Amino acid sequence: MAILLPGGAGYIGAHTAVELLNSGKEIVIIDNFSNSKKEVLESIKQITGKDFKFYEMDYRDRQKLEKVFEENKIEAVLNFAGYKAVGESVQKPLEYYDNNIYGALVLLETMKKYNVKKFIFSSSATVYGDPEVIPITEECKTGDTTNPYGTTKLFIEQILKDTYNSDNSWDICILRYFNPVGAHESGLIGEEPQGIPNNLMPYIVRVAAGILPELSVFGNDYDTPDGTGVRDYIHVVDLAKGHVLALDKLDKEKQGLYIYNLGTGTGYSVLDMVKSFEKATGKKVAYKIAPRRAGDIAKCYADPKKAREELGWIAEKTLDDMCKDSWNYINKHNS
Ligand code: NAD
Ligand code: UFG
Repeated sequence: MAILLPGGAGYIGAHTAVELLNSGKEIVIIDNFSNSKKEVLESIKQITGKDFKFYEMDYRDRQKLEKVFEENKIEAVLNFAGYKAVGESVQKPLEYYDNNIYGALVLLETMKKYNVKKFIFSSSATVYGDPEVIPITEECKTGDTTNPYGTTKLFIEQILKDTYNSDNSWDICILRYFNPVGAHESGLIGEEPQGIPNNLMPYIVRVAAGILPELSVFGNDYDTPDGTGVRDYIHVVDLAKGHVLALDKLDKEKQGLYIYNLGTGTGYSVLDMVKSFEKATGKKVAYKIAPRRAGDIAKCYADPKKAREELGWIAEKTLDDMCKDSWNYINKHNS
């Protein structure tokens, strides 16, 4: 029996593939490399010493997807495929709705056809919009997303709830990630944004490496301790381990629809991140204060209690690890 990972060559998928293989699971990856590279597959094998099956294909291709289900005994699907750039989603909403929502529909329909009903979905803290309560619990209101990317997450969550309500033999887990950063300690897999990064950590790393001249800190007049935006940064390896525990939960418990926040519960500001990065790596990060970025909120961090109590999951890596591992990755891949 194998676990199917659409998008398993991507940033979070590759780290989860490693943790699944290390925990003794068999996996099958499908990816079209629209936002990843083929070499990642070799790196996963190198880190784990284990082999797995791979299909280069679009997960929306129903015929090819059916073939994957026919050729393999799939017991569960962890879906990492989709587009994730907030700004781009505003420019290209139809592409985002097509890849993320239509893709999820094809996947779920194919699962139903082959009677595979265990599904873990990569959602995001973005579904909470501008949160009314901090730290954010899973019971907080969702909605009021500010961009098409966030709306795809909200819609897919609703599709999953409706699917479960129509047939309680589905076994679904929605994981709401906070801000994943860092890389595998080997430096073999990590985050590789195309072009100029939108997210904070990849930007900081590129300033420190001399690839970009300086960081623009988007606003220093928020209602936060130092005025800059506060987020819950979580090491990608901790996040990946959360998926293994979520899968265990689906295996052990009776069928259900479960929702968990995956965050550390601690918020750090943009300037905290700059200082921590400098301390962890000994590198200087030049920055300037710039206007607020449209759509940004002041604070966003998780209450991770539910994941701790029900999955036995806690984030173990420190901010120092996140900074060091991000730096190690770019150094290995920039030379
Ligand atoms: P990523 O872009 O690194 O990985 C996605 C992978 O899916 C890539 O390898 C890409 O090539 C592949 N893919 C995209 N469209 C495909 C298609 N049609 N067919 C086959 N493969 C396809 O992204 P990631 O950071 O690993 O994110 C994984 C999931 O987690 C996404 O759903 C994302 O929205 C979600 N998420 C990410 C973050 C984050 O900050 N990284 C935060 C919250 C949620
Ligand atoms: N920031 C800067 N300068 C930059 C980049 C970011 O000051 O060059 C600031 C932002 O204003 C924000 C913080 O750093 O205060 C974090 O920004 P990111 O872009 O790294 O992350 P976001 O919290 O905006 O968004 C991320 C993902 C979304 C996801 C969301 C919630 O990009 O996909 O987390 O999970 F929805």
